[in-house]
Formats: sequence, structure tokens, C-alpha cells
Amino acid sequence: MDKMKCMDKIPQGVFLVGTKMGNNYNFMTAAFVTQISFNPCSVGVSIANAHYTSELIKAEGYFSLMVLAEDQGLEAKKCGYLSGRKADKAKGMNYYLAEHNLPVIPNTTTTMICKVKKTIIYEDHTFFIAEIESGEYSEEEPMIYDSNIFFPSK
Ligand SMILES: Cc1cc2nc3c(=O)[nH]c(=O)nc-3n(C[C@H](O)[C@H](O)[C@H](O)COP(=O)(O)O)c2cc1C
Repeated sequence: MDKMKCMDKIPQGVFLVGTKMGNNYNFMTAAFVTQISFNPCSVGVSIANAHYTSELIKAEGYFSLMVLAEDQGLEAKKCGYLSGRKADKAKGMNYYLAEHNLPVIPNTTTTMICKVKKTIIYEDHTFFIAEIESGEYSEEEPMIYDSNIFFPSK
């Protein structure tokens, strides 16, 4: 049984997680994102322990979360294979700074500013549970994650 292929069948969107460290900004593509509670409105994001984004969220306690629109595949690819430790992924991207100076790109389906409430380290990932402090949405259709597009050789 290919357990990774089984996990792939769980429908997911494609998201960008925006973080900052001082005046440096980073974006990371994520698919492991879920709703957690209504009161308060909270989300969970699972990020590999080794990723720069994990380090930045732990240090700052905040992140921005963008639900990418169907036509934002380029942004997903730009931020999904390279670590912010090795390259400035924000460079050349169209973004602005929202609350807490968190970087946000325009034309997404939804953008949320999230405050971390609980951090759970589980094996190779850290699950950040965060309350949505503010957010805005549009009528754009969200992108659906397809591993054949993002990881064709797996
Ligand atoms: C479509 C897609 C979805 C991804 N989903 C996740 C995810 O949910 N969690 C994760 O830790 N990495 C995920 N990744 C991998 C990270 O985006 C990638 O390793 C990135 O380079 C880490 O960047 P950072 O070191 O700047 O944080 C995904 C990549 C792609 C292309």
C-alpha cells in the first residue's frame, strides 16, 4: 500500500503562508491546512520542522494565510520548492504588508492574519493552531491541490 498516495486522495487547497523576521519576508506553499474551530475562528497549518517557515512562526507567533486562486499556480511553484534560507522568495513578487507587517499577495481567494495559539510538534511536522485575527475574501475560485501537477515524479 502506498500510504502517501492514500493521503493524496484527501481533497486539499493550495495556500501561501507568509512570515517575517525583522525586515525580511518569506512565503511558503502549503497544502496541509484545515479549519479547527468556529469560536474563535481558528485554523491549523502543518509545517515540516526543518522549514524556515516553522522557525519564523515560532519566533514571531503570527503568520498570514492566503487561499490561492485557480490561476495562482506560478506563485505556488515559486514558493513551494526553495527554502527562504537559501533564496529571497519575496523578491520579485507582488506583495504588500498587512497587519503585524505580515506579507500578503493580492488576488487570492482569501487572506487571513493568524495569531498562533497552540504549537504541537508531531514527528517531522509542527502543527500550528492559530486564531484568525482579521481576513478578507473574494469570489475567486480556490485552487485544488493536485500532486500530479506539483510533484509529478512521486
Ligand atoms: C503544492 C505544495 C504544497 C506543499 N505543502 C506543504 C505543507 O503543507 N507543509 C509543508 O511543510 N511543506 C509543504 N510544501 C513544501 C514547502 O512549500 C517547501 O519545502 C518550501 O521550500 C519550504 O520553504 P521555507 O523553508 O522557506 O519555509 C508544499 C509544496 C508544494 C509545491
